[in-house]
Amino acid sequence: MKTTAHPSSTPDPTPPGDFLLATCQGGAEDVLARRLAIALPGCTRGAWRRGAVSFKLPPGGDPSPADLDRVRDELVFARALFRCHGQVHWKDDAGRIDALRARLPGARYDAVHLYPRDVRTMPTAELVAGVALAAERAGLVTAFPGATFSTAKPGDLVLDCLADSDDRWWVGWHRATAPSTCWPGGLYPGAIPGDKVSRAWLKLDEAIHSFAIEFDPASRAVELGASPGGACQRLLEAGLEVVGIDPALVDPVVAALPGFSQWRKRARDVQLRDLRGFDWVVSDMNIDPVSSMESVGRVVTAPGSRVKGIIATLKLPDWSRAGALDGWLGEFRGWGFRPRARQLSTGGREVCIFATRSGGRRGAARGSSVSRRPPGADRPATPRADR
Ligand SMILES: C[S@@+](CC[C@H](N)C(=O)[O-])C[C@H]1O[C@@H](n2cnc3c(N)ncnc32)[C@H](O)[C@@H]1O
Repeated sequence: MKTTAHPSSTPDPTPPGDFLLATCQGGAEDVLARRLAIALPGCTRGAWRRGAVSFKLPPGGDPSPADLDRVRDELVFARALFRCHGQVHWKDDAGRIDALRARLPGARYDAVHLYPRDVRTMPTAELVAGVALAAERAGLVTAFPGATFSTAKPGDLVLDCLADSDDRWWVGWHRATAPSTCWPGGLYPGAIPGDKVSRAWLKLDEAIHSFAIEFDPASRAVELGASPGGACQRLLEAGLEVVGIDPALVDPVVAALPGFSQWRKRARDVQLRDLRGFDWVVSDMNIDPVSSMESVGRVVTAPGSRVKGIIATLKLPDWSRAGALDGWLGEFRGWGFRPRARQLSTGGREVCIFATRSGGRRGAARGSSVSRRPPGADRPATPRADR
């Protein structure tokens, strides 16, 4: 999915709003606040709810849409990020829309997204499918004729209505740019087809669309932590030849697909010479992130490695481990890659890192933690051993 912006004639609202509002997975609020303090110094934390945090911008602080794109990237754990004009609170829809009109300076929007704050109960595809219906029920479709009420296009001016409760919305706006900013609430609208063997298919599908990843056909990929095989299915559908590494058996449906083979062992037990012929590394092991990093590092720094792209999921046994993220991103750079990170809306307590070869250095291990640990078992992702 390309992110070429179309020239929207709809102007930015003025004044733009004194607050930023970021939504996130429930539990990530503190991590988000810490990252925002670094990405946009001078902001102060405002209201806090499970899955949403508001921040007061410093006096005179007026981030441009380009600044917000950078901030969104650096936040990693934000789903939606918008300029916020506060709350509208009314017991019925008509009153709430009047309050919304009084609160917001802009009259015209290309897209209107009404989405719930707490998204624990429903798959994101169902949530996004319900967004247009919710907007119609709430009277927004009549109030904003001509707007889109589902996925926006890059360049669109989007009115955000974050439903905190039945009668209370946080309201504001953002300019759609990157793919996830086009999705209502930053929630991936893709659904998982019935023939896929695991939800990892959808997670990888979201990563591919979120980072606009393009695979050269006939590339070779290795997945560390491949069973039961949903992500391998997605890679095969993209035309790649795939080796799945996992001590657990891959689903027979996937095992039988042309272009697929499994190595039934732990990633760290694969001989270095066997790790040479891959263009892509995908990693999704349910082990401690430090152990995952070591295994990914072994593949990309193996002598003769030709890896040009990495899609690595690092599980976070608890939220405090998110503090190590910038160090892990530094390790990717040390291996000669340009990393970007995002907590996917279809994943759990984990972070997805997409990295491409930055050119020049191949297989460089400087700055990495590869081989720092003695040979032995990987650390499990949870304090309780899960393997
Ligand atoms: C979340 S599941 C992977 C789901 C998979 N990506 C899919 O598409 O269905 C985690 C997998 O990591 C595997 N795993 C755990 N430790 C591993 C290791 N050291 N090497 C390889 N696989 C490992 C587990 O056996 C488990 O199948």
